[in-house]
Amino acid sequence: MRILVTGSAGFVGSNVARALLARFHEVVGFDDFNDFYPPAIKRANAAALAANPKFTQLEGDLRRAADVEAAFGDKGFDLVCHLAARAGVRPSLEDPALYVDVNVKGTVHVLEAMRKRGNRKLVFASSSSVYGGNTWVPFSEKDPVENPWSPYAASKRAAELMLNVYHHLHNIDCFALRFFTVYGPGQRPDLAVSKFVDLIERGEEVPFFGDGSSGRDYTYIDDIVAGVLAAVDRVKGCEIINLGGERPITLKEMVAVIEGAVGKSAKLKKLPPQPGDVPITYADLAKARRLLDYTPKVSFADGVRRYVAWYREQKKAKA
Ligand SMILES: NC(=O)c1ccc[n+]([C@@H]2O[C@H](COP(=O)([O-])OP(=O)(O)OC[C@H]3O[C@@H](n4cnc5c(N)ncnc54)[C@H](O)[C@@H]3O)[C@@H](O)[C@H]2O)c1
Repeated sequence: MRILVTGSAGFVGSNVARALLARFHEVVGFDDFNDFYPPAIKRANAAALAANPKFTQLEGDLRRAADVEAAFGDKGFDLVCHLAARAGVRPSLEDPALYVDVNVKGTVHVLEAMRKRGNRKLVFASSSSVYGGNTWVPFSEKDPVENPWSPYAASKRAAELMLNVYHHLHNIDCFALRFFTVYGPGQRPDLAVSKFVDLIERGEEVPFFGDGSSGRDYTYIDDIVAGVLAAVDRVKGCEIINLGGERPITLKEMVAVIEGAVGKSAKLKKLPPQPGDVPITYADLAKARRLLDYTPKVSFADGVRRYVAWYREQKKAKA
């Protein structure tokens, strides 16, 4: 298949693109290499993919319909993995309009490009943040999601609704995968596991929000990639599907696991809970099992060990 991967230079996108290439698909990557985190990381991801002759990198901005139209060309694609977005809950509070532009309008540009060319298959990266302050666990795809707590969460929910519209009106098959906190080698530097490993390793203070009881269902990158590949194989109809690790890890536990993997104690700096942060995320995976045959395989302790090993290799290479 010829597949478009938006956000191909990012953390999840580069891993998905690599896995698709390993299955001998032809992959076209699309990314704007913005500076949400150092673009050098994204350039390195793109360069690694470009070593494969079946990969083509395009540079463009989802917010510009003309860039998206140019990427689609005459015929478009057999399937689109739409993973590009402005990610992150806290930064979305600073610039809500940007999140709406990229995550909602940008998604409509992709859907319109598909509609015009009769392209029929879309796999979309949604987020567990759409569940908002839900405390009824585990989170099921049937739960109400009318209470997002951040512009990021609302933008992902709005994009899911747009998928529904394009399925209804134009028969585009869509799977919206709700990722639960993805971590692993190469992860975004703004995410908790990367920040905490780095601060603990360097003996610096670790910001510790609230009383440590907040929980996140962490999902190792390889498990997310396996879920996305299963969605690529099976996308049919219009479905929302959780992809999680199936067990929430409290902030306290997370620090303890990282301390164990790094071999140093954390110096905690206690701070009040952050606005926009939800108390818990916890995926019900019954639907993922049923539709995607998905079961997460990497435990949090194992995943953190792998992350720390990668982090140390990177540091050595830079030294
Ligand atoms: N990492 C997580 O924990 C997590 C959790 C839930 C959902 N998600 C979703 O998964 C997807 C991938 O996340 P990630 O962690 O890999 O983030 P990332 O920031 O590493 O990757 C996103 C990529 O999209 C690109 N992009 C952003 N705006 C763009 C635009 N206007 N035009 C073209 N490209 C643009 C970025 O440059 C980046 O390379 C996102 O949709 C994100 O919202 C991630």
